[in-house]
Amino acid sequence: MAIRAIRHYPDPVLSQRARPVDCIDAQIRQLIEDMVETMYAAPGVGLAAPQVGVLQRVIVIDCGSKERPELIRAVNPQILAQAGECCEEEGCLSVPGYYAHVRRSDWVRVRYQLPDGRWREQEAEGLLAVAFQHEIDHLDGRLFVDRLSSLKKGIFRKKYPRIREQQQEQL
Ligand code: NI
Repeated sequence: MAIRAIRHYPDPVLSQRARPVDCIDAQIRQLIEDMVETMYAAPGVGLAAPQVGVLQRVIVIDCGSKERPELIRAVNPQILAQAGECCEEEGCLSVPGYYAHVRRSDWVRVRYQLPDGRWREQEAEGLLAVAFQHEIDHLDGRLFVDRLSSLKKGIFRKKYPRIREQQQEQL
């Protein structure tokens, strides 16, 4: 396994649509394991392949705790149904240093392939539901900041270069 470099906004790869995975071969399984390692090292609760520069429909999520990890490796994930509404504060490993409340569904039913190719259906609510929506958005070239009101998005675009500078000074 290897830690891969995380792409940061405004890297153009983050706004492109990822391709479906036709065949889960050794290369895809390696990508998945590298993404798991990269997510835990960051640390983060989710990561989508475009964030490491790969335009393939693969996400990993872990909304569990250190004591009880709940790792999900999902290939070709789709939202089958969604309901309810929530507005949680979100951040993103590709937008370090910026957090905002985003309106989303608070329940989803998703379908995805496991690394062995089998399809799985799962229901999720709360933070896990938000994580699925956030990561699947990445596969469609959408960041959480794209879901803000145009007023807030304008403020983000103006403020973010300074936030990035401060982030890099801290490193
Ligand atoms: Ni993200």
